[in-house]
Amino acid sequence: MQRYTGEGNGKTTVLELLQKEQIFLPADCGGRGTCGKCKVQFLGGAPDPLEEEKKKLSEEQLAEGVRLACRCCPDGPFEVAFEQAEEEIAVETIQTDGRTGGSSGHHAVAIDIGTTTIAAALLDTERQQILDSRTCVNHQRAYGADVISRIQASNDGKGEELQQLVQKDLQQLITEMGEDPETVPAVIAGNTTMEHLLQGLSCETLGVAPFTPVDISLHQKDNYLILPGISTYVGADIVAGIVASGMDQSEEVCMLIDLGTNGEMAIGNKDRILVASTAAGPAFEGGNISCGVAGIPGAISRVTVTDGAVQYETIGDKEPVGLCGTGVLEIMYELLKEEIVDETGLMDDDYVDDGFPLTEGIVFTDRDIREVQLAKSAIRAGAETLMKEYGVTYEGIHRLYLAGGFGQKIDLKKAAGIGILPEELIEKTEAAGNSSLAGAVLAACDPAVRQRFEQAVLLSEEVSLSESRVFNDLYVEYMFF
Ligand code: FES
Repeated sequence: MQRYTGEGNGKTTVLELLQKEQIFLPADCGGRGTCGKCKVQFLGGAPDPLEEEKKKLSEEQLAEGVRLACRCCPDGPFEVAFEQAEEEIAVETIQTDGRTGGSSGHHAVAIDIGTTTIAAALLDTERQQILDSRTCVNHQRAYGADVISRIQASNDGKGEELQQLVQKDLQQLITEMGEDPETVPAVIAGNTTMEHLLQGLSCETLGVAPFTPVDISLHQKDNYLILPGISTYVGADIVAGIVASGMDQSEEVCMLIDLGTNGEMAIGNKDRILVASTAAGPAFEGGNISCGVAGIPGAISRVTVTDGAVQYETIGDKEPVGLCGTGVLEIMYELLKEEIVDETGLMDDDYVDDGFPLTEGIVFTDRDIREVQLAKSAIRAGAETLMKEYGVTYEGIHRLYLAGGFGQKIDLKKAAGIGILPEELIEKTEAAGNSSLAGAVLAACDPAVRQRFEQAVLLSEEVSLSESRVFNDLYVEYMFF
């Protein structure tokens, strides 16, 4: 537990006061009072709890002076104790060639700015080698876990703070790899919101229809090359995935799916590509799950249930702290297999009130099942809508690339078992890892690849799933398991 002593003005929240001091609490909902993660304990003189705090905190916590930092605006001096946001999130980076055998001295850096984490690779551009790679959490996370909260924070006048945070993260990663952030050529891929925030562009139009970005073209800013995106919700990270997978040069039709919160996907080949994004929600990142956590040490990542007995594995073999994305998927599969949950998503009466216990203090609840249903249905329905629009069946798909850390680690049989993926594609599925970083690496190593990025953008057409009747029908259908 850390402590902070400060002076409030009756208007600024404790969360904001701490952020100004570069102290970051977990704040998944970005200060809207809904996630219940920004807990602080007042050491004397706790303000009266608000109704919304009473819903998020137990009576015991309230009695101990625990409050939500985003809801309290102390007027005068105060002291609080708290846990800072987690710094260690498991994240996919890239295989390195190491630094053996010297270096040509021609270096560049490739960077993927993810909403949760940032990954960077140091390259020897002459020898076409990856010398080093690093990751860190995106410290903008203190302003909310998803892009919507970041857009909101930026629109509330915090754009500059968000820009400085990500710039600082990039500088730190580049410096750690022994390069000068002011001079080393750097190639950056990120979703459209991340690229806007990095450049200090207004996010006003990103959050409201017709969702128009300010600038998503390929362009150079000082020593940084910003890769191009397709739209507000299909950004440069997905274009990088398209290029890294080679879909833009393939004769055969391939598909790329990023199983993250925005569930971006692309289908196509060298002649035509269709893209879409679907509001899958953060369930497969451990978000909005009652005992959900990011991929941190101690997160339950593997689960089996046999006749009610639970066995699990945690990241780093640490004491269990919650369920990360793969853990969520696996417990869902196991509960269906054991018939503790039926195909409509209904839980056995024995577990409806308190949830299914995995271990002490970690349960999987009825509400968590709804989150999984929403996420898996959005992804499956989105993928099938794109296929219909493209005029291709599962047989016609040559390869399915699953992007991101979650895609790397999921058990495909279990993913098909709960219906995220169809059985027909299991054999054709390939984990693409951090394909956004892989695309940035290609562009950093070879300037000619940059044209492929621009070409891929021109080749791509976005399908609006929210306006698609086909999507809406499939979405309802795939809510069932
Ligand atoms: Fe989510 Fe405070 S409740 S940040």
